[in-house]
Amino acid sequence: TKDWNGIDQVVLRNPHGASAQVSLHGAQVTSWRNEQGEELLFTSSKAIFKPPKAIRGGIPICFPQFGNCASLEQHGFAKNKIWTIDENPPPFPPNDYHGKSFVDLLLKSTEEELKCWPYSFEFRLRVSLGADGDLTLISRVRNINGKPFSFSFAYHTYLLVSDISEVRIEGLETLDYLDNLCQKERFTEQEDAVTFESEVDRVYLRCPNVIAVLDHERKRTYMIRKEGLPDVVVWNPWEKKSKSMVDFGDEEYKQMLCVNGAAMEKPITLKPGEEWTGRLELSAVPSSFCIEH
Ligand code: BG6
Repeated sequence: TKDWNGIDQVVLRNPHGASAQVSLHGAQVTSWRNEQGEELLFTSSKAIFKPPKAIRGGIPICFPQFGNCASLEQHGFAKNKIWTIDENPPPFPPNDYHGKSFVDLLLKSTEEELKCWPYSFEFRLRVSLGADGDLTLISRVRNINGKPFSFSFAYHTYLLVSDISEVRIEGLETLDYLDNLCQKERFTEQEDAVTFESEVDRVYLRCPNVIAVLDHERKRTYMIRKEGLPDVVVWNPWEKKSKSMVDFGDEEYKQMLCVNGAAMEKPITLKPGEEWTGRLELSAVPSSFCIEH
């Protein structure tokens, strides 16, 4: 299928009616629906589907940087590029398949990318939808350059929630975080869960590999499982910041929450020929199925 700007999208379906949509624009997952057909990811009604602008919502791939420290644009260029489909993807590891429907998208450094980031790389993103409706994203970045390079990375995951004031994140308690709202000052989380009553923009450091986002009102829990991604970015723009973003509705902050598996505090360094893998697995389950804390 095509997206609103005529760019190809791939639709993955499982036998029970769950689906996911991936745009070649940024290799961005733009929709993920459960067996009941309910959307699980947030996309802004004001999103602009036109490269080089990244789509506001879904799961933008932030590479080769997350944030805006270098001369590169905020969150890197991968999300703004048109990726290609690999028609002959390498097979799944035998124990990892379980009837998944999947697509492999590729981004290779062209002259245009080399102008702003002078390192040759190959990026393969595999998006797969499991028989249970779980969504898995596996990124493989390979250095095909003569010298080492470093990068930071995030799966900028916009979860759809029913009311942000009723949402809590579990799994980040007692961790240190950098607060982007206080010049990246370092704090330690004191609460037993992260809850929301104003703007939040934090990088939690060295997090466990399983994080839970509980949407109390909808009685749904998002389980986020990650590998190779030590940090977790938590972001909600709240009222004032929402109004300053052209591609985001004034009230939409109430229905979204970004919880991003990331490698940020310590950049990843790859020597020539080396490869890095970062894996994110999302599942959405009725809250009653989760273990009570
Ligand atoms: C978040 C960052 O993850 O992304 C925020 O922590 C930033 O600081 C937000 O405002 C959105 O970024 P952008 O570039 O998509 O507007």
